[in-house]
Amino acid sequence: MKVDYLRISVTDRCNLRCAYCNPLGDHGLKDDEEILAAEEIQRVVRLSVACGITKVRLTGGEPLVRADIVDLVQRLSGVEGIEDLVLTTNGVFLSGLAGALKQAGLKRVNISLDAADPECYRCMTGCEALSEVFDGIHRALNVGLTPVRINCVVVREINLSQVAALAEMALRLPVSVRFIEYCPTSEDTGPVGSYVPNREVREIVESRFGALSSVMAPEAGGPAVYFKTGGSLGTIGFISARSSIFCQRCNRLRLTSDGAIRPCLHSARSYDLKTPLRGGADDETIVRLLRRIVSEKALYTRLTAPAGDFSMQQIGG
Ligand code: GTP
Ligand code: 5AD
Ligand code: SF4
Repeated sequence: MKVDYLRISVTDRCNLRCAYCNPLGDHGLKDDEEILAAEEIQRVVRLSVACGITKVRLTGGEPLVRADIVDLVQRLSGVEGIEDLVLTTNGVFLSGLAGALKQAGLKRVNISLDAADPECYRCMTGCEALSEVFDGIHRALNVGLTPVRINCVVVREINLSQVAALAEMALRLPVSVRFIEYCPTSEDTGPVGSYVPNREVREIVESRFGALSSVMAPEAGGPAVYFKTGGSLGTIGFISARSSIFCQRCNRLRLTSDGAIRPCLHSARSYDLKTPLRGGADDETIVRLLRRIVSEKALYTRLTAPAGDFSMQQIGG
């Protein structure tokens, strides 16, 4: 599979405390000087084009808590060869930033939203910010950060009850609501039994809204599969990272906020990019390292080198 997609965690900070990601809140964070600066990220992106990368996604932590996020987007949108510049956010600060991000060259956003009910949202995230997220979704649609995708991680004892209400958003709005199978990543983020297979989520959606029929979504290239119900404006998607294995089709690398490249979310293997970046390495040396990582990627999948405990917040999902 051609590796053409780089996911970049631009900060390890987050303003929420999601049960499945950082239930204890921000802790064990890197010092500011450990985090890559905008110019360093821009350089990595420019050089990664020479290695086949054409799509970049900014993630976190929460990317919108990074003070220079609009400037960073502006820099990256100017890199020749990057055809798709996108971002995944929890949506809390999106309504105030969507216009500036669009103007800076961002193409679209994926927004995490795991509940449609304020009390359940608070239970999931530790915060009362549901109306801000809804504002963010509407603003993203209005300014054209589209297609908008909503990511819902389903955790049995917290938000299984929300599946129908979340799916219903795809009936009335031109968004894709995607259900993601929960991946327990460390002892902090709860028991393995909290995982709900997407087969069960689909049954809930179909029993409420009728049979789903498969569709090709625009700009789909990842592991999500998409469906429609009769008359829906948007689509329903499923990312079944536990019940199905899509490593053979994996097209992505991940850059952590402190400058390491991880070829696979679930593998412990990482390559230090920051030392050469800050040690005066020339472009050719960095490109050689990136090419080596691309060529070695297939060696590292969830099947070959288990990651053990890891932090989604540090890697960016
Ligand atoms: P699109 O480009 O819109 O399809 O987005 P995306 O799914 O690549 O990005 P997003 O940040 O919205 O990711 C949603 C979640 O899907 C991730 O955080 C992971 O939980 C899961 N996921 C996406 N890609 C992979 C993958 O390659 N491996 C695994 N194990 N999970 C993935
Ligand atoms: N399991 C599955 N998905 C997760 N995400 C974060 N943590 C987990 C987890 N433990 C997803 C969020 C976010 C995306 C970047 O990663 O839904 O949208
Ligand atoms: Fe890619 Fe690793 Fe996810 Fe497999 S488990 S699809 S190799 S990131």
